[in-house]
Amino acid sequence: MNAADDIVLSPDPRLREKCRPIEAIDDEIRELAARMLDDMYAAEGVGLAAPQVGVLKRIVVIDVDYPSADPNPYVLINPEIVEASEETVPFDEGCLSFPGISVSIERPRHVVVQAENLEGDLMQYEAADNLLAVCLQHEIDHLNGITMVDHLSPVERIRVLGEYERALAAGAKPGETDFAS
Ligand code: NI
Repeated sequence: MNAADDIVLSPDPRLREKCRPIEAIDDEIRELAARMLDDMYAAEGVGLAAPQVGVLKRIVVIDVDYPSADPNPYVLINPEIVEASEETVPFDEGCLSFPGISVSIERPRHVVVQAENLEGDLMQYEAADNLLAVCLQHEIDHLNGITMVDHLSPVERIRVLGEYERALAAGAKPGETDFAS
């Protein structure tokens, strides 16, 4: 299946669900991670969360270096934000589930995230003022049924969703923004 067909688009209700923790890192999870990475790279995204391929489990993949460098994928299983700064910064975000739009979203500038990797090791990721800081928060939101437009004011959300409908009608495909996760 090609990435564009595999990726779930808003307003699919699966993007609104809280995902379940992963109990065991088995072949099914390893295959899911591989599928998500394939889809992410094919769509030229920098991150993808399992509900975006229709699987309601707590796993995300991120590669903020690609395509400027060799692939350097992070697979985060059961990720949790353990620290977030009070200070926030805006960043232009896109999402593979919202083809054709990018939106300025305000988020904490510094975060610390804990997650298991595919080997089951507990890893810690720390990022501030960069794409990784944004991407970690954006992807973990997806596991809680939250998408980027939920961070907008009601008025701004209506405007952006109108823009999204027009982009879809014009044939926008996942990854068609400046930055998409
Ligand atoms: Ni997204």
